[in-house]
Amino acid sequence: MSGASNLDLQRALHIALAGAQAGAGVIRKGAEQRASLVIDTKSPRDFVSRVDRDAEAAILAVLQAAYPEHAVLAEETGVQRPGASPWQWIIDPLDGTTNFLHGVPAYAVSIALTHLGEPQVAVVLDVAHAETFTAIRGGGAKLNNTPIHVTSCARLDESLIGTGFAFRPDQDFDLYTRLFKAVAKHTAGLRRPGSAAIDLAWVACGRYDGFFEVGLKPWDMAAGHLLVTEAGGMVSDFAGASLVQGGQLAPSPLLASNGLLHEALRNLLANA
Ligand code: IPD
Ligand code: CA
Ligand code: CA
Repeated sequence: MSGASNLDLQRALHIALAGAQAGAGVIRKGAEQRASLVIDTKSPRDFVSRVDRDAEAAILAVLQAAYPEHAVLAEETGVQRPGASPWQWIIDPLDGTTNFLHGVPAYAVSIALTHLGEPQVAVVLDVAHAETFTAIRGGGAKLNNTPIHVTSCARLDESLIGTGFAFRPDQDFDLYTRLFKAVAKHTAGLRRPGSAAIDLAWVACGRYDGFFEVGLKPWDMAAGHLLVTEAGGMVSDFAGASLVQGGQLAPSPLLASNGLLHEALRNLLANA
């Protein structure tokens, strides 16, 4: 049972996993028919396909059958039952759509259950690699059912950092250039695979020592946020403040780390 209320979080995780698997099934089928997919643009260079929408419908069918009373924030269909419940499912049916459409194997289903904005249950399912990252608040984080932990790297010059940078014409490319320079100069390397959910999962399981990005939406990071904190890491904005504000997740800008490097990375980013 959860400390936040009497909801059974083990059961919620079980349902979240079933939802993620339903979404992943749609995505796998879609990958076989990639060449014939109809693609829309939400905004310049921001793509969505039938697979995003069908995966979201498959996930929602599972979650809403189990928890019809819960609120939902899902990338493709938006908000449902706003304020009806302190419990809200936050869903990105396909994080890394651009990778998926190009056949780059870095895309995931991301599902979180939040209580008054605080993530309680998380699943990030990396579809191409069959890696399932899970977490329950207070219960640790796992990869394919094995407990995971952030790294113990305490030196910036030995750290590997993930990031995401601007790709839409309306974004602030100068800011990204400054952030990139500030961090690249002092660390062992920067990576940008193109799925924020996977990036955060990789901080949780110790492949990265940290991750930062500006401009994320709640569905990009709600599940990954819990994975990192349950794996022993830290998540904040560039000023060190919590991303949960007024009962909601306010994800941007986001810094995640193993904790040991948090202050040093935060200083680099805040001064860039
Ligand atoms: C995107 C990915 C990407 C990040 C973008 C997101 P989508 O999500 O997470 O890594 O840089 O900001 O929008 O559109 O593929 O679900
Ligand atoms: Ca996303
Ligand atoms: Ca998406």
